[in-house]
Amino acid sequence: MRHLMSPMDLSVEEINRLMDLAADMKADPDRYAHSLEGKILATCFYEPSTRTRLSFESAMLHLGGKTLGFASANSSSAAKGESVADTIRVISSFADICAMRHPKEGAPLVASLHSEIPVINAGDGGHQHPTQTLTDLFTIHTLRGSIDHIVVGLCGDLKFGRTVHSLITAMSRYEGISFVLISPPELRVPGYIREDVLEANHIPYREVVSLDELMPELDILYMTRVQKERFFNEEDYLRMKDFYILTPEKMKRARKDMFVLHPLPRVNEISVEVDQDPRAAYFRQVECGRYIRQALILSLLGKSDVLGQTERLGKS
Ligand code: CP
Repeated sequence: MRHLMSPMDLSVEEINRLMDLAADMKADPDRYAHSLEGKILATCFYEPSTRTRLSFESAMLHLGGKTLGFASANSSSAAKGESVADTIRVISSFADICAMRHPKEGAPLVASLHSEIPVINAGDGGHQHPTQTLTDLFTIHTLRGSIDHIVVGLCGDLKFGRTVHSLITAMSRYEGISFVLISPPELRVPGYIREDVLEANHIPYREVVSLDELMPELDILYMTRVQKERFFNEEDYLRMKDFYILTPEKMKRARKDMFVLHPLPRVNEISVEVDQDPRAAYFRQVECGRYIRQALILSLLGKSDVLGQTERLGKS
């Protein structure tokens, strides 16, 4: 039985096969419409979500399965003090696979250690968000035909943004990737990402404060929200929150074949006028998320050969 906690739990070949399967699911949805009949996905979200939870649920429904779950810690017995370990033991008797989001880093990992069913990390604190990364990679592949040999600008809250940490970790394994890390000094990417991922793998990167100066070099601009919920005080958040605002004026400096991605939700960091620009791909990115999660769920349940196993996984 396999779980997904970090993009590093998947090889590049497995990610590429997941993307191929997602593309096939998009092209031929009827072929997969009954693939998971009789199976149940539990979505256990201890933190707010729109896209990830609904995308998981939509993915399961499009495969013919069913869903159950909770959308906040307050609506589960976590509010009464139940541990994640006990919760997953209970869920293992109701469901075949679980997507879990939690404000504490490592909570889904703890769940996986006590689980009889595959657990997918749907975002743990400021740590990792591997299915957002699969979404991002599938989006880039769909838009550009390849993930190799691109310059990726990551802009905003690179300290607390878990989507950024997972994306850098995953992309560092592709050929010819370089990063421009654009953030205020207080919101730089954490040391463990710089040292253990970028420097350890000799990935070229630059850290800059200005969004403007390197814009013409970028193939992808990945904007992120300042993560209000991870700040220790409101004053710091207010000082940082509008540090970057992508406007049509700024987009004039970007190449014609550059694409703007954003994991969403957006607060104010991309002005709504940019939505009309054909290079604004963040809503297309959301759509990619459903297909790649379909591919992931199907594969973790052993119903495809993407993860090198075709037998039924999970509880028997
Ligand atoms: N991208 C993302 O994780 O969005 P939600 O918080 O709405 O799930």
